[in-house]
Amino acid sequence: MNNVLVIGSLNMDFDVYTSRRPAAGETVMGQSMKMVPGGKGANQAYALARMKVKTSMIGAVGDDPFGRMLVQNLKTAGVNTSGIRLSDRETGKAFIEIDGQGQNYITVIAGANHDLDESLLLDHIDLFEQADAVVMQLEIPFPIVQQAAKLCRQKGKLFILDPAPAMRDIPADFFPLVDIAKPNETELSVLTGMPTGSREEIIRAAQKLHALGVRNVMVTLGGQGTLLLQESGMREFPAYPVKAVDTTAAGDCFLASFISQFDGRDFAPAIDFGAKAASIAVTRPGAQSSIPDYEEVRQKFSHS
Ligand code: RIB
Repeated sequence: MNNVLVIGSLNMDFDVYTSRRPAAGETVMGQSMKMVPGGKGANQAYALARMKVKTSMIGAVGDDPFGRMLVQNLKTAGVNTSGIRLSDRETGKAFIEIDGQGQNYITVIAGANHDLDESLLLDHIDLFEQADAVVMQLEIPFPIVQQAAKLCRQKGKLFILDPAPAMRDIPADFFPLVDIAKPNETELSVLTGMPTGSREEIIRAAQKLHALGVRNVMVTLGGQGTLLLQESGMREFPAYPVKAVDTTAAGDCFLASFISQFDGRDFAPAIDFGAKAASIAVTRPGAQSSIPDYEEVRQKFSHS
């Protein structure tokens, strides 16, 4: 994809590194704390621009220092931020614990991200017109996601959904608007109401999401790779195993890197590139701070 519009969240992330998470009522001593630009929408926009895609973002931040830092970081990567509104609410925040295995546990306070409304989409309809694809997540009000999906269908744009954080009870008429969905196994379970504890269960749940109308279901399974379910059948793609220090934004990095190489038809090379980029991201701390650029991915895997 050459020109991509991301509509979604921007958060300042507060990352706490700890060897293990406390149990209820327990206190543990952490190792360090970092403040890093994040938000699933912003991470994906940042990664797309780092992968040389012409990228615009529609979103909202507070008129505060965090909001200014988030917008500045996107600008530095080359994202067109003209669609980011200044809200009366505070900039969104995410509180993230990262344990000794690099696993993350995220709580988001939406703040300004809940200020997205239809007027913001209509004010920036030019960004829709220019885009080949529109990417969204579920950290903003769902009616906006529905409206944007319908606009994409009307205008013949590819609509790509990262259904995170996953929601139950999504209206049935929404799924057929989704060209590509990228849930992880937990999100797949919430979306379908089905267990995803084993490979067989994941396949059955992916089949259900496809039967609901999602054209291409791309399930990310961390170190187990990616499962793709389409009309033509199911395919599996390996991950590139590494020692993870922080998996925050690895899914965002995967999706954006996939989109950067996707020509609208051939999933295999684009998924492989996404897996390569994500394998670099998990070796570094933080959200946007962990995302490599195109040259780094190419150079690191030049012999594979
Ligand atoms: O996907 C990772 C992101 O989820 C973090 O950057 C955090 O802000 C939450 O939105």
